[in-house]
Amino acid sequence: MDATPTNSPIIAAYLERTPGSAAAYARALNAFPSGITHDNRYLRPHPLSVTHARGARKWDVDGHVYVDYVGGHGALLLGHAHPAVTARVTEQLAKGSHFGANHELEVRWAELVRELMPSAELVRFTSSGTEATLMALRLARAVTGRTKILRVRGHFHGWHDHMAMGFQSHFDGSATPGVLDEVAAQIVLVDPNDEAGLIAALDASDGTIAAAILEPTGSGYGQVPLEPAFVATLRRETERRGIVLVFDEVVTGFRVARGGAQAALGVTPDLTTLAKILAGGLPGGAVVGRRDLLERLDFERARALGVEKIAHQGTYNANPVSAAAGLATLELVRDTDAIERAHAYAARLREGARAVLREESVGWLVYGQHTGLHLFLDADGHGRRPTGLRPSEVKARAATEIARKLRPAMLAQGVDLAPWPGGPASAAHDDDDLDVTLVALRAAVRALKEEGELG
Ligand SMILES: Cc1ncc(COP(=O)(O)O)c(C=O)c1O
Repeated sequence: MDATPTNSPIIAAYLERTPGSAAAYARALNAFPSGITHDNRYLRPHPLSVTHARGARKWDVDGHVYVDYVGGHGALLLGHAHPAVTARVTEQLAKGSHFGANHELEVRWAELVRELMPSAELVRFTSSGTEATLMALRLARAVTGRTKILRVRGHFHGWHDHMAMGFQSHFDGSATPGVLDEVAAQIVLVDPNDEAGLIAALDASDGTIAAAILEPTGSGYGQVPLEPAFVATLRRETERRGIVLVFDEVVTGFRVARGGAQAALGVTPDLTTLAKILAGGLPGGAVVGRRDLLERLDFERARALGVEKIAHQGTYNANPVSAAAGLATLELVRDTDAIERAHAYAARLREGARAVLREESVGWLVYGQHTGLHLFLDADGHGRRPTGLRPSEVKARAATEIARKLRPAMLAQGVDLAPWPGGPASAAHDDDDLDVTLVALRAAVRALKEEGELG
C-alpha cells in the first residue's frame, strides 16, 4: 500500500470510516496486483469492499450506504438487482447455467437486439466487449484483405493487443508493454473532431485501412464528445473508401437510445460491438451488423464464397444465465421509460452540480449527455468547450491530486463516483439520491478547499 498521506484530513476521514475495507484490501493485496481486478477500481488509500447493492445504492463492509455512480462499469442502466432481472436469472440458474448447446433464450435475445438495433442483420455473441471489438476488427480485415485500423485518440475499445494504445497513454500510437511494434504499426490514430486530420490520415493510408472504429459519442462515454458532423464525415469517407465502419456501442448501446448512439445520430455503421447493458449486468458481448460481414463466421456461406471461415469459439458465448439477464433488461429498455428516466436524472444532476460549484466559486467544467456526468477538474474549466478538450489533458486531469482526493471525499459523504470522475446515471436514481449527491459534492469541495487543493 502507498504510505498513507496523514497530513490530509480527507484521507484520514476516509480511513477512519472504512476500517473493514482497509482490512479486506490488505488481504486482496496478497492475491491481486494492486489488490484489484480491474484498473478502474484502483483507489488510494484503498478501494471500498462492497457487500451488496440494490437500485442506485450499494453498501460496504463497514455498513455504510453509497449512492452509486459506477453502475457496474456502465452495465446497469436499471440499477442493481432489478427484481425482474433477478427473477429471470434465478429461474434460469435453477434450470442450468450451461447447456453447451443451442437454447431458446439466445435466439430471443438476438431477436430483441435486432428489433432494437436494425443494423444488426446478424448477431454473434461473445463473452465481453473486448472480445467483440477483437472479432469486429478480424472480420473487417478478413473481408477487406487490408491490415490497418483507424481509431480516434482517447477512445477505448477493450484491452486486446490491437486496441491497447492511445486511449490512456501512448497517444503517439507506440506499443504498450507486451504488444508487438508490428501490431501497433497497423494502428492509425486521429484526433477527435479534427476532420482535416481525419481526411489527411485516410488519404495517407488509402487502400490499406480495413476498419475505422470509434465510440460514437466520444471517448470514455463522452469525456471528449464527438461532433455529430465528425461522425457523419467518417461514415461518408469510410463508405467511399471501402472501409468497414465499426461503432463501439459497448457503453452507448441501449443507453443513448433504445437503438444506441446510431439511432440518435441517424448513422448506420457496418458493424457494432455491444456488451454491458446487453447482458443486464452479467458477462456478455456481441458483434452485430451487416450480413455479408458476419457471414465470414458461417460454415456454409464461407464455403459457398470460397473463402476460409473465421473460427470462433468461446465457452461462455450466449451463456443461458447472461441471456436471461440480457433479455429481461432489454425488454424493460424496450417497454418502459427507463432510458428517458435515466437521461432526465442525469440532466438534473449536471444542473445541480453546476449550481453547487457556482455557489462555491469552483470553476470546474460539468458536462455530459444522456446519462453521463463528467467533471473536468480545472480551475478555469467552465470556460472550456467539451468538444475542444484533448484526450491527454482529460486523462492528466483525472490523475491529479485533486482528483485523487475527490473520490475519497465523496465516499466519506456517501457517494461513489466513477473514477473519470463522474458517472453514468441509471433509471433507479431518484430525488433522494440527487439530494445526497449534491450535499456530498458541496462538502467534498469545501474539504478540498480546506486542504488548500482549490487555491
Ligand atoms: C467503449 C468500450 N468498448 C469496449 C469495452 C470493453 O468491454 P469489456 O470490459 O466487456 O471487455 C469497454 C469497457 O468498458 C468500453 O467502454
